[in-house]
Amino acid sequence: MENFQNKTAVITGAGSGMGRYLSVLLAKAGCNVAICDIDEDSLVKTSEMISQYNVASSQHVVDIGNKEKIDEFYENVMAHHESVDLVFNNAGITVVSDFENLEEKDWDRVIDINFHGVINISRKFLPHLRSRPEGALINTSSIFGMVAVPNQSVYHAAKFAVRGFTESLAKEMKDTNLQVHSVHPGHIGTNILAKAKRIRSGNDQVASGLVSLNSEMTDKEEGEIFRDNGMHPSRAAKIILEGVIRKNSRILVGLDAKVMDLTQRLFPNHYQKLWPLVLVPVFAFRRNLRKPLPGIAQES
Ligand SMILES: NC(=O)c1ccc[n+]([C@@H]2O[C@H](COP(=O)([O-])OP(=O)(O)OC[C@H]3O[C@@H](n4cnc5c(N)ncnc54)[C@H](O)[C@@H]3O)[C@@H](O)[C@H]2O)c1
Repeated sequence: MENFQNKTAVITGAGSGMGRYLSVLLAKAGCNVAICDIDEDSLVKTSEMISQYNVASSQHVVDIGNKEKIDEFYENVMAHHESVDLVFNNAGITVVSDFENLEEKDWDRVIDINFHGVINISRKFLPHLRSRPEGALINTSSIFGMVAVPNQSVYHAAKFAVRGFTESLAKEMKDTNLQVHSVHPGHIGTNILAKAKRIRSGNDQVASGLVSLNSEMTDKEEGEIFRDNGMHPSRAAKIILEGVIRKNSRILVGLDAKVMDLTQRLFPNHYQKLWPLVLVPVFAFRRNLRKPLPGIAQES
């Protein structure tokens, strides 16, 4: 795929973070967008941001973790746009808890959204994407689909699974019209942790290696520090779209993601111990990347 002009993209989780800026950058590039989120208010704000670009857009309030709603979502998108060229399975949540204290309903909810949501939407849109002259399926895993830390077992289970699914499908689709990408962001400054359910059980290490959080902090403080210290999601979205144009099947977002990937290859048993050493210079370098990209619609 050489550019996004006059194509149509579906973006899930478009009300916030990377999904919002994927939608803005795609619209800026002349791509029509079908934006989806479970949160209607945030979707309206994204819709306002893309209204300055001269593209067709539609808004879809959908819980992608509810399998029953995926057929209707597909039909609604098709009724608005007739055809779709790109699908970004971006929506995701996390719950921070050790496994022993994680309730089954929270486990199921994360798996339903982060894994089954990706599978069900991929399954539904795949025949149509295959019928297009060129199509792209872009599934967001995480660097946490490659390395593991404590208190994120369900998130890892889903994100490792998304990577496995996506890499297998990419091989099946080799030499076809469909490019398939798995996306592995490092620490991106979004509200994902601020919105996360947090079960405190004494062993409260969270997002270790990505950002300095400690058990003295409140949930709110943790969420704000996470949001304010990561790469701005507009910059992450730009890297993802560049990866699609370059046909990179695996898109690592951020130097921290690249460093973490490398450390787990070199030191599979000890990589997390190395992160405080090797990631400090990366975090210092990242300061410049916390600002939004210039020249695009911004959040008010
Ligand atoms: N922020 C990071 O550091 C980071 C790192 C690696 C991977 N990721 C992944 O990137 C993706 C985007 O995350 P983000 O950081 O931009 O988070 P975010 O919280 O800013 O945005 C996620 C969006 O998904 C929506 N969403 C949640 N559940 C939904 C559902 N059931 N149906 C539809 N929409 C739903 C939310 O309302 C929100 O608007 C997620 O898959 C996340 O796991 C994030």
